[in-house]
Amino acid sequence: MCGIVGAIGERHITEVLIEGLRRLEYRGYDSAGLAVIDQGGIVRERQPGKVQALADASHAAGIDGYVGIAHTRWATHGAPTQDNAHPHQSGDIAVVHNGIIENYEALRERLQGEGFVFTSQTDTEVVPHLIQSELRKGGDFIDAVKRAVAQLHGAFALGIIRACEPERLIAVRQGSPLVVGLGIGENFLSSDQLALLPVTNRFIYLEEGDFVVLTRQKVSVWDRNGDVVKRPAVELDATLHASTKGGYKHYMLKEIYEQPAAIQRTLNGRVSQGRVALDAFGPQAAELLAKARHIQILACGTSYHAGFVAKYWFEAIAGISCHVEVASEFRYRTTVLPPDTLLVTISQSGETADTLAALREVKARAIGSLCICNVPTSTLVRESDMAFITHAGPEIGVASTKAFTTQLVALLLLVLAAGRQHGNVSADREREIVAQLNQLPNLLETVLALDPQIERIAERFGEKHHTLFLGRGAQYPVAMEGALKLKEISYIHAEAYPAGELKHGPLALVDNDMPVVAVAPKNDLIDKLKSNLQEVRARAGELYVFADRNADVRPEPGLTVFPMPGVADEVAPIVYTIPLQLLSYHVAVIKGTDVDQPRNLAKSVTVE
Ligand code: AGP
Repeated sequence: MCGIVGAIGERHITEVLIEGLRRLEYRGYDSAGLAVIDQGGIVRERQPGKVQALADASHAAGIDGYVGIAHTRWATHGAPTQDNAHPHQSGDIAVVHNGIIENYEALRERLQGEGFVFTSQTDTEVVPHLIQSELRKGGDFIDAVKRAVAQLHGAFALGIIRACEPERLIAVRQGSPLVVGLGIGENFLSSDQLALLPVTNRFIYLEEGDFVVLTRQKVSVWDRNGDVVKRPAVELDATLHASTKGGYKHYMLKEIYEQPAAIQRTLNGRVSQGRVALDAFGPQAAELLAKARHIQILACGTSYHAGFVAKYWFEAIAGISCHVEVASEFRYRTTVLPPDTLLVTISQSGETADTLAALREVKARAIGSLCICNVPTSTLVRESDMAFITHAGPEIGVASTKAFTTQLVALLLLVLAAGRQHGNVSADREREIVAQLNQLPNLLETVLALDPQIERIAERFGEKHHTLFLGRGAQYPVAMEGALKLKEISYIHAEAYPAGELKHGPLALVDNDMPVVAVAPKNDLIDKLKSNLQEVRARAGELYVFADRNADVRPEPGLTVFPMPGVADEVAPIVYTIPLQLLSYHVAVIKGTDVDQPRNLAKSVTVE
């Protein structure tokens, strides 16, 4: 969370900083600020709210300089006020920070004892004061920063400037993402390369523990041991990363509609002659999948839901036992991995702190680690043994949509590959499911055509405070994902239950003010699901059912049916996700929420 940008050049850099922040708003948008060095002093502007407020204030104040740092915040310590906005300053030193300084309370107390005055409630403010304190003890700016950083505990990325040293910008990566952008006569810093694409397409991906000094002409890197290292520069095809709303009202809607094309990209080159190309998962995939007797999936949020669907698939299709757990739980409990466990992590961003920490914790105990990820340059991809890139394309809306369905496609390919290696999926069965996957882009277009009907019904949710989502089997995690979508963008409380669990408690909630949304593909469980729906109707619950048009779920007063195309059971979770995304989207629009940047959230969760 939080986004950092830094720049040192021979031109005024305020616009570079502000455009960079706009592109990093997905990381947090509670407040924004920047600091530049101008005429030997730090000039700082900070505003609560989105980057636009900062842009307006900076323009009005005519702020400019040749070196500067900027920040967009997702509040952890202290409310999103101006005082708590970054950069934080101590005399002639200004600092931006992404992450958490865990020992800030002890440091704050010590620094207050030394006479430093704190003006914010943040953990970050200890950093500029600590550097100032170290400078008083002697040595130069770089030494002082190194000594200060050595005292910090936690995960952080820092950008640091000092007014009397306008020739350099210092950066530190220790647990939070940071890249250096290389220009000609100018260099840059950012939490994500995306922020710097308007100014460069050449990047250095820093590693954990790296300490960096940027001047206009040079980038010097020290590794965690203090040794000077040369990190390779990578050139990116910037056109791949361009993103606009393309005529849609919101990124989320555009991304929902992009799913047929995104899924096609996930499949391209990954199937050959109707079967899964094993090396799509990496050169060791054939051997590791054959050896794996157990799969442990770790992920967060929507990516966790994708993993939960995959658990059903691994056990039903591939005959391999599979556990799935949210990474933030797994990493902090004592765990036992069965012998020959393959670790699978799933993440859109590849920068989610809990998922990364879980990977690092478990890696040595597993036979190998595979990540399913959308961002090829991410930390998760770099730290995993094998990676499958989903190629969903940039996902800007905070609510994950195309990232989820492309993860599901990737996971189903993985299940087929693993099942084949174990002799549990025949060539015919594999071809049959691959054929179903190949039909998905067309099938999803049919489902997207339900949009106007869903939009009309969404009106009925606008005044509601709670909604229940029901599914059975692999549709239960789909219902969980539907509930997550609705709560995160419409702020309506939503919960998902496996439909068979209703009678064990949640049925008590059902009355005529509680909409109940169900996903009902035609499969072995459809009759059981219909009985569960009757239980809801008998309590005057208002039902909205996305049902296979051949499943004989008939509309009646209080029961609205959306006819879904007939689909094979294996790919049904992917297909039934789409209408739930559309429903949440339209309810959020009706409620007038900030669809792409819902309150209190951020796209990339780089703090624990
Ligand atoms: C879902 O809409 C959210 N964006 C969130 O739950 C997200 O899936 C989670 O934070 C994990 O992110 P990742 O896929 O980038 O790891």
